[in-house]
Amino acid sequence: MSHPIIFDTDPGVDDAQAIAIALRHPEIDLLGLTTTYGNVDVETATHNALLLSELAGREIPVAQGAAAPLVKARHPPPAHIHGTNGLGDIELPPVQGKADPRSAAQFIVDTLNARPGEVTLVAVGPVGNLAAALQLDPTIIGKVKRVVIMGGSIREGGNVTPVAEANMFNDPDAAARVLTAGWPLTLVGLDVTHRCVLTGEHMARIEAGQGALGKVLAGSYGFYRDFYREFLGIDGCCPHDSCALAWLLRPELFTTSRGHLTVATAGDAEGQTIFAPEGRGFIETRWSRTPLVEVCLGVDGEAVSDWIADTLA
Ligand code: BDR
Ligand code: CA
Repeated sequence: MSHPIIFDTDPGVDDAQAIAIALRHPEIDLLGLTTTYGNVDVETATHNALLLSELAGREIPVAQGAAAPLVKARHPPPAHIHGTNGLGDIELPPVQGKADPRSAAQFIVDTLNARPGEVTLVAVGPVGNLAAALQLDPTIIGKVKRVVIMGGSIREGGNVTPVAEANMFNDPDAAARVLTAGWPLTLVGLDVTHRCVLTGEHMARIEAGQGALGKVLAGSYGFYRDFYREFLGIDGCCPHDSCALAWLLRPELFTTSRGHLTVATAGDAEGQTIFAPEGRGFIETRWSRTPLVEVCLGVDGEAVSDWIADTLA
């Protein structure tokens, strides 16, 4: 079965690897890449999305989106994690293609309206483009097949603050709208992405299998790996964004739970995803007023890491 998807992204080293999967996997029909600020500014994100498609020999529409969060001030991009160019500061070949003239939000709205019930929206950056698309045309809630979001954390704690994951923290106001919109939604958060580690061995197979694209993936991985080693003491990297695609294609490797999500938009808990399991009563009822969604809580991390390497080898 082929999955038509729109991939919303802020590439980004781990985004780049997920884009490669979206470009290469025979069961994915990549309809477009939409870009957002996050790991880099949005112009760099668009440049990288175009570049990665070209290196894979594909002409995929790339529509540029959010340059900043909806409400809060933008934090500087994390150059120490992804490099200033988002791809580990390795030297990059020139880009030939141009972005689609439409905004990311317009592209999402047009694509979902053209194929109601068919298209899955996979978002692996701050979710401002999804919030903007909802504002442009709320009927897309009933037209998207599913929204899969890499972001948040249910029990794992955060990676930017003790409680907040980066994509949620970067635009908590957008996240609060997107996670409670009432569309079919699966959250793939740190509870599972932190259980997956892509090793140097995996990466060597990917480099060997992907030609010019593999060189960029492996070169940028080297930079990202230094961050993991220095700050987290892990030898390897968590392939956060690829996990969203792993869930889509290999859901049997994950365990999930249904419940209600809320996102804290301000204060010390800003960006925290708060999960109330389905059917569990709380004295304060507001936690159960948001629509039901699905969250990933467990994963076979080794199998997912192997699946990523096998897909790209
Ligand atoms: C998420 O934050 C970004 O830095 C990564 O690309 C991933 O989408 C992980 O918290
Ligand atoms: Ca990302």
